[in-house]
Amino acid sequence: MPARVLLAAALAAALAVNGTVRAGAPDYAWGLPRGFPTPRVPAANPMSPAKVRLGRYLFYDKRMSVNGTEACASCHRQELAFTDGRAFALGATGQQHPRSVMSLVNVAYAGVLTWSDPNLRSLEEQALIPMLSEHPVELGLRGRVNPFLSQLAADPVYRALFPKAFPGARNPFSLANLAKALAAFERTIVSARSPYDRYYFGGDSSAISDSAQRGQALFFGDQVAGCFHCHGGFNFSDATVFEGDGKRAIEFHNTALYNMSVAFRYPWPNVGIYQHTGRLADAGKFKTPSLRNVALTAPYMHDGSVARLEEVLDHYAAGGRTISSGPFAGRGHDNPYRDARMTGFTLTTQNRTDLLAFLRSLTDTELIRDPRFSNPW
Ligand code: HEC
Ligand code: HEC
Repeated sequence: MPARVLLAAALAAALAVNGTVRAGAPDYAWGLPRGFPTPRVPAANPMSPAKVRLGRYLFYDKRMSVNGTEACASCHRQELAFTDGRAFALGATGQQHPRSVMSLVNVAYAGVLTWSDPNLRSLEEQALIPMLSEHPVELGLRGRVNPFLSQLAADPVYRALFPKAFPGARNPFSLANLAKALAAFERTIVSARSPYDRYYFGGDSSAISDSAQRGQALFFGDQVAGCFHCHGGFNFSDATVFEGDGKRAIEFHNTALYNMSVAFRYPWPNVGIYQHTGRLADAGKFKTPSLRNVALTAPYMHDGSVARLEEVLDHYAAGGRTISSGPFAGRGHDNPYRDARMTGFTLTTQNRTDLLAFLRSLTDTELIRDPRFSNPW
């Protein structure tokens, strides 16, 4: 998207986040639980409690949108694990986004951001997209940045918060600092207190049911489901990175949701990373989302086209989705760009119950009530 490229070019310098990444503020108290590595933080945006605090106020501030109706939190709602419950996001002026809102839980570990942009890797850079984008309008701040910054500079809350977050800055009220504070806040949204975490990392063998334990074995085994090949690790996503894990290419996958009789096989504009690489073999390849709190984040997939977890399992068991009529008709399993792991498997009633129990054990009910992530206003 040219708008994004322009944006990136104009602001990467100001943000200085495209260069080396190493632990920003190594002394920052993450309070991470067992099994959770330290997130990577750009050296140009070290973590600090003051910055996180400012980011939280901004995340919930509806003045950030052109008509005062939306903030980041309108689409990323805490009670829904920072999603919005819709198939497609709705911007401040009523424009529909072509894709579904993503959870921000554990986004500090996301090696790449949004559903299908292999080049977008920093939260600082990402935050500018909903603020400034015009296709579609999300918050609609383009053309109003300076008046908005003046508004913040005149607000007593921000007059206290900005200088503390950016000590020594001549004028802390800048767009780059706004993005940095939002990113710092987002990095603290860590989910690690699900029943599964108590069971697996906490050693509490009764924290999840026997059924969920059988589901775990199916999820992490090759006999039946093999989900772990893409949804592996502590964050249930192969698009996960952390401090000290070295350089690794992030993989995207075509999970055979569509097989339309058009070149891309997927409905435009959601053609996966093909949009960025121009390689037809990349059509329909998307980032693997984390499955933490997946029971709260329906509807599913990049376009919200799967309503329930039961249907997600049917889709994988069939090795792809078949749509029998209408504009999207086609047998997903025959998609030429389908991931080789989408082979399909036999889903017995028992396996289905067990896999669902396992997926539901990933819900962290403390996270969705945690006051550290709630509206501070
Ligand atoms: C209009 C609804 C809407 C608003 C407002 C919004 N977002 Fe989003 N957000 C989305 C959608 C839709 C996606 C997926 C975008 C895509 O794939 O192109 C997303 C994706 C993201 C991601 C990527 C997550 C991941 O795992 O890759 C981050 C981070 C994010 N948003 C942060 C923010 C921040 C910060 C704000 C406020 C400045 C914000 N969003 C405002 C709808 C919204
Ligand atoms: C080949 C890699 C791969 C395998 C294997 C895989 N997934 Fe996925 N999964 C993905 C990708 C990529 C997406 C996003 C696809 C899209 O939106 O087009 C996804 C999406 C999902 C979603 C939707 C999440 C959301 O927030 O929208 C769920 C739930 C899910 N997978 C569960 C599973 C389960 C359960 C299994 C095992 C039966 C499994 N996956 C196997 C790669 C995989």
